[in-house]
Amino acid sequence: MPAIYSKAPGKIILFGEHAVVYGQPAIAIPVTQVHATARVFPILNGRPGDIRIQAPDIHLDSALSDLPKDDPIATAVQLSLETIGLNSPPAFKLQVSSTIPIAAGMGSSAAISIVVIRAVSDFFGRHLQTDDVSQLTYQVEKIQHGVPSGIDNSVIAYQKAVCFTRDKPIEFFDITGSTHWIIADTGEKTPTRVTVGDVRNRYEEERETYQDYFNRIGAITQKAKQGLIKGDKERLGNLMDENQHWLAQIGVSSQSIEHLIEAAREAGALGAKLSGGGRGGNIIALSPSGEIETITAALLEAGAKRVIKTILTQGEGS
Ligand code: MEV
Repeated sequence: MPAIYSKAPGKIILFGEHAVVYGQPAIAIPVTQVHATARVFPILNGRPGDIRIQAPDIHLDSALSDLPKDDPIATAVQLSLETIGLNSPPAFKLQVSSTIPIAAGMGSSAAISIVVIRAVSDFFGRHLQTDDVSQLTYQVEKIQHGVPSGIDNSVIAYQKAVCFTRDKPIEFFDITGSTHWIIADTGEKTPTRVTVGDVRNRYEEERETYQDYFNRIGAITQKAKQGLIKGDKERLGNLMDENQHWLAQIGVSSQSIEHLIEAAREAGALGAKLSGGGRGGNIIALSPSGEIETITAALLEAGAKRVIKTILTQGEGS
């Protein structure tokens, strides 16, 4: 069996986070400037069932059987083997690595599960359909994140811009022209399950108000999809600002987020908002094509810990 290599990008949410948990649409795009990779090699003369997992980024070098049951890489390997019907596979070594920032709303955990599932199944000659890879990844995501919406596994498995609504078929759409996005890290971290849990508590206390917020965000996301399809950047920028307003209302913005958003807008961004779970993590700004370096410099000057620039180009969306 030859060695197998698999690679997947990170992702960023453009519109609709949090509201997507309550059935509203959200838009996300792959970010190919960062990625996860997995390699599977045969262990010659190994005993059937011997599986070695190595992830140098997190100082992991262990037999699969020694990992905790809920370890995400172990779970992804087990699910892959179950899906392809192998109880006692020939011995192999799995090496995992990633440049996707961890706990930053860029899909690092989903991307790692995806490359592991693809590499293990392909190694045994059982290429899984993209939807199967996405569904298996969702199973792993549930162990780590509670009840995620499923947007991360979808956008990363398909590696296309997606409009995602829970329990509905994924919508792919193409865009007109190119849009330039700048992702800036506040350096603060709040786990997504914490912000999702806090929003859930507030929703339980004030259902009508919060349902109204989610509906408004859903309507913004629908308009943004049209803005992307038509290539109307001014409109997209305004919609990002509106989306940010409602994200602040539901309590997931923070001082560091507002500070970077302000810096991006002052430097010429067409719009900016938080992306992902919020209360830290990343902001995303839409840049006119001539202002990318100015906005990047302004964000770093304002204290961004890392800036990633990505382009969504016509033809990549669908
Ligand atoms: C986190 O990246 C996005 C949230 O909408 C949670 C989810 O969709 O599972 C906050």
